Amino acid sequence: MPQDIRIEDIASYEGQEVTIKGWLSLKTGKGKLQFLRVRDGTGVVQAVLLRKDVSPEAFESARRLSLESSLIVTGIVRADERAPGTPGGYELSVTDLQVVHEAQEYPIAPKEHSVEFLMDNRHLWLRSSRQWAILRVRATVVRAIRHWLDGHGFLNVDTPILTPAACEGTSTLFETDYFGEPAYLTQSGQLYNEATIGAFGKVYCFGPTFRAEKSKTRRHLMEFWMVEPEMAFADLEECMRVQEEFVSYIVQTALRERAPELDILERDTAPLQRVQPPFPRISYDQAVEMLNRGGVAITWGEDFGSPHETYIAEQFDRPVFVHHYPSQCKAFYMEPEPGRPEVCRSVDLLAPEGYGEIIGGGERMSRLELLEEAIQRHNLPRQAYEWYLDLRRFGSVPHSGFGLGVERTVAWICGISHIRETIPFPRTLQRIYP
Ligand code: 4AD
Ligand code: MG
Repeated sequence: MPQDIRIEDIASYEGQEVTIKGWLSLKTGKGKLQFLRVRDGTGVVQAVLLRKDVSPEAFESARRLSLESSLIVTGIVRADERAPGTPGGYELSVTDLQVVHEAQEYPIAPKEHSVEFLMDNRHLWLRSSRQWAILRVRATVVRAIRHWLDGHGFLNVDTPILTPAACEGTSTLFETDYFGEPAYLTQSGQLYNEATIGAFGKVYCFGPTFRAEKSKTRRHLMEFWMVEPEMAFADLEECMRVQEEFVSYIVQTALRERAPELDILERDTAPLQRVQPPFPRISYDQAVEMLNRGGVAITWGEDFGSPHETYIAEQFDRPVFVHHYPSQCKAFYMEPEPGRPEVCRSVDLLAPEGYGEIIGGGERMSRLELLEEAIQRHNLPRQAYEWYLDLRRFGSVPHSGFGLGVERTVAWICGISHIRETIPFPRTLQRIYP
């Protein structure tokens, strides 16, 4: 009996007869010879049919088979350096072929399609090699995130998606009806993380996050995934130390485990190899000076836009921390710098190569009076934040944390220009289909 295998394991079956279940992604051939490119989710292999080796019915169905038909092929695994595919280097000499379903004419051809068309067909586009490669990198990034945190004393404590109040700012909330009361889709689990550190010390939440941002940039989605570690007894310095170790681990894991995928994406991996701690650190003040010297004008107190972030990042060969932003640029909970309350103990991590901010975070306010004042200054409904204020009444500690956006990180590692391709079904300003 031939063994059922998946293409990623094909190298272990050289000379053996195996069965592969998948889809037809490309077909060429003539006369007595048919080449079927078969995709099974884990890789792609070329199946070679010789008329004399298979039944007339099998040969005939191969000849007629439409692209993206599902099929089961059986054959002998042969090593051949020139064999195309992923992992490549092996092909299948077919002994039998069974068609499971004959596909209708497939709308996506190897020719150029518009992004709109591809996005309308996202449910099918996911089968293309580029999309396959990106989402395999994403899965590895997600696993590396969990693995690093689980191994460094962080407990996974997930936070709610339906929430009664804002975390990052009221202008980007998706509102929904909660039995007659307004509720909002979460913008960040941070405030809840600040509660759970009181029970568990070091925690992280990891899940979807929602921002009703009316922005159409390459870096914004309405629904994205964020991992948010939070640590009791940790200051801004400690927060940066954790971030640089964490991000380096994620990038190095992707390089190690996803070389074929990065190759499909034609990613130059040299800049990623350099992602090792320590990362450079500059203050917002220094960044403003650097920008003005470099001709990218900015006034102190303004938040950075994408040209500013790109310019700053270009000055370094690895991700760079920008810390101590003006308090006016940041959320209400940021700890002010003692003696210099116009800046706060916040930090953003900017990725190289124009990818911009991938992490936002910093030290949180730990004093009750300061936080009460901040909530008032930001016109937030005090009642909704009573529980959050409690955390400063019962064993308050200096604490820090951060949020890393999965899609921006994956876009950077893959070297792709738009984050809409880094999530299976993107939610953008103009799109919620499919
Ligand atoms: O800087 P942000 O808004 O920070 C927070 O939400 C903090 N509460 C996190 C924390 O300290 N626990 O978002 C963090 C990261 C950004 O750096 C970015 O990578 C990603 O989340 N992000 C987005 N990604 C895609 N689309 C959007 N609209 C995003 N908004 C933020
Ligand atoms: Mg931010």
